[in-house]
Amino acid sequence: SRSINLAVVPGDGIGQEVVAQGLKVLAAVLPQDVKLETKEYDLGAQRWHRTGETLPDAELDSLKNHDAILLGAIGDPSVPSGVLERGLLLKLRFAFDHYVNLRPSKLFPNTATPLAGRPDIDFVVVREGTEGPYTGNGGSLRTGTPAEVATEVSLNTAYGVERVVRDAYERADSRPRKKLTLVHKNNVLVYAGHMWKNIFDRVGQEYPEVTTDYLHVDAATIFFVTQPERFDVIVTDNLFGDILTDLAAAVTGGIGLAASGNINPTGEFPSMFEPVHGSAPDIAGQGKADPTATILSVALLLRHLGHEHEAVRIEEAVAADLAERAPGTTRTTDEIGDALAVRVAS
Ligand code: IPM
Ligand code: MN
Repeated sequence: SRSINLAVVPGDGIGQEVVAQGLKVLAAVLPQDVKLETKEYDLGAQRWHRTGETLPDAELDSLKNHDAILLGAIGDPSVPSGVLERGLLLKLRFAFDHYVNLRPSKLFPNTATPLAGRPDIDFVVVREGTEGPYTGNGGSLRTGTPAEVATEVSLNTAYGVERVVRDAYERADSRPRKKLTLVHKNNVLVYAGHMWKNIFDRVGQEYPEVTTDYLHVDAATIFFVTQPERFDVIVTDNLFGDILTDLAAAVTGGIGLAASGNINPTGEFPSMFEPVHGSAPDIAGQGKADPTATILSVALLLRHLGHEHEAVRIEEAVAADLAERAPGTTRTTDEIGDALAVRVAS
């Protein structure tokens, strides 16, 4: 479309800094005739301290009207663990039915990784985003006593599994290698694990061109490090996907480069794009954060909105920037954003 009405949620810590660079590159890459409108939302730790609110209904309603959401990072040590995660980030993912959490991993040139010099790594994790142990389905009895009992139930529905598995098959089918790996733990988690595997096999019959594989999650972590080139598209549940994508980021150039999209494929709700990394309060406000993950998330955002050409421009700019950066030097957040803005504009 010829206009983008973007919601911006900078959030906490380095979120502000990296989002500013993401917007800079977005403005630089868009052709003149695409009108960009942005609205910033004051959500996160400061808002919570001020008003006790995490995501009021008014904001949720207003966010619904945007084409997409760009989010920086959520979380601060001054807020009890879980308050912002559940009350803001997960609330957005659930409210906007972001059932595909898309997390690509590419080995960019010249990056500090234990896998440098290895064959090309280019896979994408399709992490389920609305179910699993993330639904808050649990409880604690005799809390704080030696007799405490806590449960944290993983919720899996056939509906929820089938739609994310189908999305993963579609993605695999459209990639050159056409390979899809299901990651679960069905030797122990037999109820959810078998349901995932049955649905995976059944839906697979509709995609005869896609080669399939199954791995237990523990084995998958080994292959992420020893044979990452074996992966093309991976589909997995919410928690396994959370863990695997941090590992994927670590082995393919660091968390500073890992982008993600929380996608609502039906288009009923806006999709939300964010770096995989957190708010990094230890380095916030110092210009030390690498904005590249956010800038690559902007590329995913553009692709989702149909601006494929601009998405590719950003990805190529990042690849060129990393390939040509002077070894041993460090750049500020701003400098990296400026360098990428110049590259995408030229
Ligand atoms: C992520 C984060 C979140 C998650 C947290 C902050 C709730 O780790 O986006 O990967 O677990 O999904
Ligand atoms: Mn995570």
